[in-house]
Amino acid sequence: MKLILKFFAKAPGKIIITGEHFVVHGSLALAAAIDKGALVQAEAFEGIEILSKTLGFYSSKKGQVPLSLKPTLEAIKATLEFIGEKKGVRVMIDSDLPVSSGLGSSSAVAVATVAATASAFDHKLSPEEMVNLAMVSERITHGRPSGIDVNVAVYGEVILFKMEEKPRQIKLDKDVEFIVCHSGIEHRTSKMVSKFSEMKKSYPNLFASLVASSNYFTEKAAFALMNKDLTTLGAIMNFFHSVLSNLGMSTRELDQLIEKALESGCIGAKLTGAGGGGCIIALPKSGEARVVAESLKRKGIDASIVKLPLGGVKVWQEKS
Ligand code: MEV
Repeated sequence: MKLILKFFAKAPGKIIITGEHFVVHGSLALAAAIDKGALVQAEAFEGIEILSKTLGFYSSKKGQVPLSLKPTLEAIKATLEFIGEKKGVRVMIDSDLPVSSGLGSSSAVAVATVAATASAFDHKLSPEEMVNLAMVSERITHGRPSGIDVNVAVYGEVILFKMEEKPRQIKLDKDVEFIVCHSGIEHRTSKMVSKFSEMKKSYPNLFASLVASSNYFTEKAAFALMNKDLTTLGAIMNFFHSVLSNLGMSTRELDQLIEKALESGCIGAKLTGAGGGGCIIALPKSGEARVVAESLKRKGIDASIVKLPLGGVKVWQEKS
């Protein structure tokens, strides 16, 4: 019997703890991998075929690529070209991340896809190569992304990220738990990023000082997280939410989730990702995550616990 090798890659989604939007304008941001992600299986193939329950189906034999799969297709083509492979690939994508919700679904898919594609031809990409190839997909999806989501999907853990710099890992001695609540409303990151950037044109000096504050408070937040100073971290998260909300990034639904999380005893809460829908993160007191998450669920809220730190992309093979 012939043994068949199957090639897999799994990449995590993310939460942004502080600094979203400002990161696109040069601020540091603090982000972490979560325990949901994208799993991709790849195999060498004649032509290119992509199959995903949520994104649809594409076969190079049939031509027309659905819009939802264009970013993935371009990342696959860039990967094959980068590794000098003339043959095509078939990829099967599975993800338990909700799409357009601020949890880095497109980045997780992009990173797992490029890693699995290269692996199907015995090629191991470096983390930098994975970031660069996944960014091909992300630029088509989001226009001008900072790259923070892709970096979390590759490196995992908790990272301090600044554009054009290698991310710095924040080491945690003990686990820290956050609660993620989903508003159930999808958003478009590119639309929110342009809306946020409008303020730069109207009030350039105020905008520059907010970017500087975001940088300063993100460093403080990383320090607080490292030292498990949850009171300071929570206060910084609340600060970020009020600034983002004042700049039009929140919604009534997100503000209501924040209010409910704070009422349930969380120290801090803020929107995470681009806003305009999607999710919030809340910081419970140490050891209280389960009780708070249960109490939020009883109020009908889609709440789950994320325990940090978690790893980045994993690549492996299986025999069948
Ligand atoms: C999206 O997850 C985070 C934003 O800051 C956009 C980006 O960094 O590319 C809103």
